[in-house]
Amino acid sequence: MKLFGKKEEKKSPSAGVADFYNATTDKFLQVYGEVIQAFRTNNVEDYLRYTMESAELQNGQHIIDAGCGVCGPASFFANNLPELKIEACTISEVQAEKAKAKILEKNVAGSVNVTLGDYHFLDEIFSANSFDRVLFLESFGHSKDKPLALDAVKMVLKPGGKVYIKDLFARESSDEWEQLRINQICGQINEAYQYDIGNLHLVVSALRKKGFIINYIKTPKVDMSAFEHLTISNEFQNLFNIGKIESWDNYVFPIDFYEILAEKPAFDPREQMHLYHMNK
Ligand SMILES: C[S@@+](CC[C@H](N)C(=O)[O-])C[C@H]1O[C@@H](n2cnc3c(N)ncnc32)[C@H](O)[C@@H]1O
Repeated sequence: MKLFGKKEEKKSPSAGVADFYNATTDKFLQVYGEVIQAFRTNNVEDYLRYTMESAELQNGQHIIDAGCGVCGPASFFANNLPELKIEACTISEVQAEKAKAKILEKNVAGSVNVTLGDYHFLDEIFSANSFDRVLFLESFGHSKDKPLALDAVKMVLKPGGKVYIKDLFARESSDEWEQLRINQICGQINEAYQYDIGNLHLVVSALRKKGFIINYIKTPKVDMSAFEHLTISNEFQNLFNIGKIESWDNYVFPIDFYEILAEKPAFDPREQMHLYHMNK
């Protein structure tokens, strides 16, 4: 399959990610099922319904699912919002093939299309100013050049379109030792999963520098009795020895989960300098 959006002269800031998922997707499917997200509810469909609300998905929209896995989430969205049009992309050939099969199995070929492509170059894959949403569902943190990915996102969004990021971010502590441990453990996760766990400040700053309006930043709102408590991710780590926690001595929980919704201004602030973009 041809890989879109990865010009020869450009080195992908996701080097190693495709190989990682080509090698591990069957393992993820075995434990996670078709939704490869650690933060979820016991019934993962409830979490996807929550995602639809949080990302403000509606019939008639044209959206991109950037880092789509095997299109488990995209198929669910399409089945629940039949007038939604979804362009899904993944950097893994193995996932793209499995996603194609999933789209047929779930009968959503009229709504979901999958492309093998690198989300840092969405603007080379898709038309400019064409999308209402770009979603990153636990995929943004794979990027080692997040500002570059946001440049591409801004180009493909329509004026007034929004980027939705749900991801893990490094925790912070005022205690020097604890912060050191957080950084070390994040480093181990990054190595095991080909990740680059985001720094919330830097991601928010990159969004604002690029002119996005932050609509909200929040912890996913999940009832504790419905929360899955990351047991699937622990099971995955123990079963396959990927990112396994060898010792709980001196362990510090290293991450927080956040959702960010940010909007591309509906008009060009350089042309209408007198208008202030109010955060709705
Ligand atoms: C943890 S999985 C989440 C998959 C999916 N969002 C879900 O909820 O099932 C991370 C996904 O990001 C994709 N990904 C990582 N870096 C990427 C890149 N540069 N371009 C496109 N996809 C990427 C991986 O291929 C994988 O599908």
